Amino acid sequence: MHLPRPISEQLSPLFQGIAQRTSGHLDRDPGQAVQRVVIRQAFAYLRRHYPILVLPRFAVVTRYDDVKDVLARDEDFGVTEVYAERMERTSGPFILGMERTARYEREAAWLRGAVHDDDVARVRHLTRGYVADALEAARRASRGDVVELDLVARLTRRIPVLLIRDYFGVPVADEAQMMRWMRATFWELFLNLTNDRGVRRAAEEAAAELNPYLEQVIAARAQELADGDDRDDFLSRLIRTRASFGETPFSDFDVRRNLAGVIIGAVDTLNKAGAQLVAELLRRPEQLAAAQRAARADDLDLVSRYAFEALRYDPLNPILLRVCRRDTFLAPGTPREASIAAGTTVCVATQSAMFDPERFERPEEFRVDRPYESYLLFGDGQHRCFGEAFNRVILPELLLALLRLPQLRRPRGRRGMMTFEGPFPDRFLLEFEHALS
Ligand code: HEM
Repeated sequence: MHLPRPISEQLSPLFQGIAQRTSGHLDRDPGQAVQRVVIRQAFAYLRRHYPILVLPRFAVVTRYDDVKDVLARDEDFGVTEVYAERMERTSGPFILGMERTARYEREAAWLRGAVHDDDVARVRHLTRGYVADALEAARRASRGDVVELDLVARLTRRIPVLLIRDYFGVPVADEAQMMRWMRATFWELFLNLTNDRGVRRAAEEAAAELNPYLEQVIAARAQELADGDDRDDFLSRLIRTRASFGETPFSDFDVRRNLAGVIIGAVDTLNKAGAQLVAELLRRPEQLAAAQRAARADDLDLVSRYAFEALRYDPLNPILLRVCRRDTFLAPGTPREASIAAGTTVCVATQSAMFDPERFERPEEFRVDRPYESYLLFGDGQHRCFGEAFNRVILPELLLALLRLPQLRRPRGRRGMMTFEGPFPDRFLLEFEHALS
């Protein structure tokens, strides 16, 4: 299959800067906090002076209305060049790399059908259990009055792996291996913007292990279900319903690539978002204290508001990419009207949109009264996050439990710095007092 030039060959220097920022190895130490502010300022400058910046073959869209517009117009702004080739090379074709074709609709419907109404409650219940167990384990492992907790190892990276086992229905004999497979593939699919060869090789090696593993799991499960097993998890539902969408039933290969796409999208997303939002809140003593009061009053709705507002300052995706499929206009009839040529890579600055004063009142203020619907933390339009309803319970449940810990803080000095593997939080030590709150 012919695919256009890799996206990274078309990147402008501006975009490279953003790419480096999103894949930095540093913690959000004071230096990096400054850097983040600089990026926000750069977006603020563009929003004001060049809201739709058009360069040769590259454009940056920074205002809320235009960002929403690009993401809504999937027939004009596609994803194939952004994701499809990398997916083909690793986990296989997946809805996020497809335009709105009959194939996309059929596969998206199959996946959505495997999520049932009461799953959000189930995921909430599971998450609560994982968090309680992890905190108890940290307490048991501690000596003295101070408990040390590696947020990444015990919670943000581990919760989704446990959900792969308990909700998605994929056995996880070796958690570290599953984490490695998920990270290596995710890194290549979504964050290898400079086409680093090591990242690419690691993803291909991971896929060479993950794919046969999933195939064997799927074949065994299909047999068990045929033998009358009545287990109910995401994988079993995919298998049970594979003949219900169109004339040809989905094959084992179809099950594998769709299952892989979903679980790969679940692990380091939740890890990165969870770790970054906690770091954001710990950086703001006043808001932290207010969020702690909300948590102690068991006000989950208010805690959610703290979680998503914190994420606005350091989201998983400060930008999304699209490629213009046919010559078109953005913001027609306005002073910022811009003509976009087919083939232009469009940097859709979702974080910038969430700082657009036209739509986010006093955007530099940390506020918990913003309507959830206005956030663009999970994308928008055709490819809006499949896991959003889960994220909306997992992240608040995690935060609520943390906020209730007595004297939650980062250890002083370097030990209190989050460390990264490439773009991914790898270790984030926190401390709290042993006494139960
Ligand atoms: C806090 C964690 C997460 C964040 C911030 C996040 C963010 C996103 C974003 C921004 C997109 C849109 C990408 C684009 O338009 O180019 C997306 C799509 C997607 N996400 Fe998530 N995600 C998270 C967790 C999850 C989880 C837990 C799952 C699985 C249950 C998941 C599965 C997916 C899938 C399958 C898509 C593609 C949907 C489609 O193409 O129709 N994500 N996510």
